[in-house]
Amino acid sequence: MLLSRPALTLAARRSLLAVPATIPRLAATRTFASQSGGGGGSRGGNTLIAVALGAAAGAAGYRYYYRNDQSSLPKIASAVPTAEAKKQPLDYQKVYNAIAAIIEDENYDDGSYGPVFLRLAWHASGTYDKNAKNGGSNFATMRFKPEAGTDANAGLAIARERLNRVKDQFPDISYGDLWTLAGVAAIQEMGGPIVKWRSGRIDGEEGNCPPDGRLPDGARPDSQHTRDIFYKMGFNDQEIVALLGAHALGRCHPDRSGYDGPWTASPTVFTNTFFTELLGRKWTERKWSGPKQFEDQESKSLMMLPADMVIAKDKEFRKWAEIYAKDEAKFFEDFAKAAQKLFELGVKFDENAKVYEFKPTNA
Ligand code: HEM
Repeated sequence: MLLSRPALTLAARRSLLAVPATIPRLAATRTFASQSGGGGGSRGGNTLIAVALGAAAGAAGYRYYYRNDQSSLPKIASAVPTAEAKKQPLDYQKVYNAIAAIIEDENYDDGSYGPVFLRLAWHASGTYDKNAKNGGSNFATMRFKPEAGTDANAGLAIARERLNRVKDQFPDISYGDLWTLAGVAAIQEMGGPIVKWRSGRIDGEEGNCPPDGRLPDGARPDSQHTRDIFYKMGFNDQEIVALLGAHALGRCHPDRSGYDGPWTASPTVFTNTFFTELLGRKWTERKWSGPKQFEDQESKSLMMLPADMVIAKDKEFRKWAEIYAKDEAKFFEDFAKAAQKLFELGVKFDENAKVYEFKPTNA
C-alpha cells in the first residue's frame, strides 16, 4: 500500500536527483517507494523537541495564569449548548491530513495526485487581474462550465472530483479553501516548503467566472507574454521564476494540454531540479506530430515548453533561475512566499484570520 510509504526524508529526495534522466513512467516513484525509513530523524526529532518545548511553555503559562488571575478563569458551562455553540470551527489540520491521505495512488500517473492538485490550486488562483480586481481563488468559479471547459483547465476535473471526497468529509469548507489547501498539502507532502495558508474564500456563482485567457499559454516563446500574464496578477520577475519551479513536478498529458512528458526525473518530489535541468541540459526541438516542445538531447525523456525556455533565454529571468539552481533553500523560501501570495489572490480575509502552518503527515 502506498499509504504506508516511509517518510520522505531529505536524503530520499536527494537520492532521487541521482536517478538518470532516462526514466520510464513511474520509475521515479518506484525509486521513491523503495527508499527505506531510517534517516527521517531530523524533522521528526525537531518536531518532538518543539512539542516538548511547547508543552513546557504551555504548562508554565497555565501556572502563571492560574496564580495571577483566578477571577477570570472560564466558568464550567451549566446550560445545554445551543446549536450555534455546538458547531465546531473547522480543524484545518484535519482537512489537510484528509487531503494528504488521498494524494498517493499507484494507479494514477506517476503515483501521485499531488501535481494535479497543485495545478488546480494555481489555475483557480491565477485568473486574478489586479486592474479589474476580479478572478483569483475566491468564489471557486472553476466549478462552472465557462471556466471548467476552457482548454487551459483540461484535465483539472480529475483533481476536483478526487477532492470531493474531502468535501464530503468536511462539508463546511468552501471549494476555494479546499482547492488552495490541496495546493499547500501537495507542495508539503511532496517534500516542499511549508506554505502559510488562511481560510476565508467563499463559494460564488457562475456569474463570477473570470474571462478566459488570463492563464499563460505554453506555446508562447516570448517573455513579454509571461510578464503580461503574471504582472497582471501582481507578481515580479523573481516571483515568476520561483513559481515556475513548480514544473519540477508532474507531467504534460497529450489528452489534456497536447504536450507530452515530465520536466524532471523526479516528478513527485518537490525540488529545484526544474532549474538545474533547464540550465544544465541541451534542449532541442522534439520531432513529433504534437505541438512544438523541447526534449533534452541526451536522454530525450524530459521536456520543456516554449514558455519554460523563456526562463533560460530572458536575462532577468535567467538570473533568478541560476540562483535557484544553485541554492535550493533560497528557492524553497521564495517559492513558499510566492505560493501563499498566489493562493490568496482576490480573497478578502478577515483581519483576524488565523495564519496556518500545517504539519506534513510524513514529518
Ligand atoms: C508560464 C507559465 C506556465 C505555463 C505556460 C504552464 C503550462 C503548463 C502545461 C501546458 C502543463 C501540462 C498540463 C497537462 O497536460 O496535464 C502544466 C502542468 C503543470 N503545471 Fe504549469 N504552467 C505554468 C506555470 C505554472 C505555475 C506557476 C505552477 C504552480 C505554481 C504550475 C504548476 C504545474 C504543475 C504542478 C503541472 C503538472 C500537472 C500534472 O502533472 O497533472 N505551472 N503547466
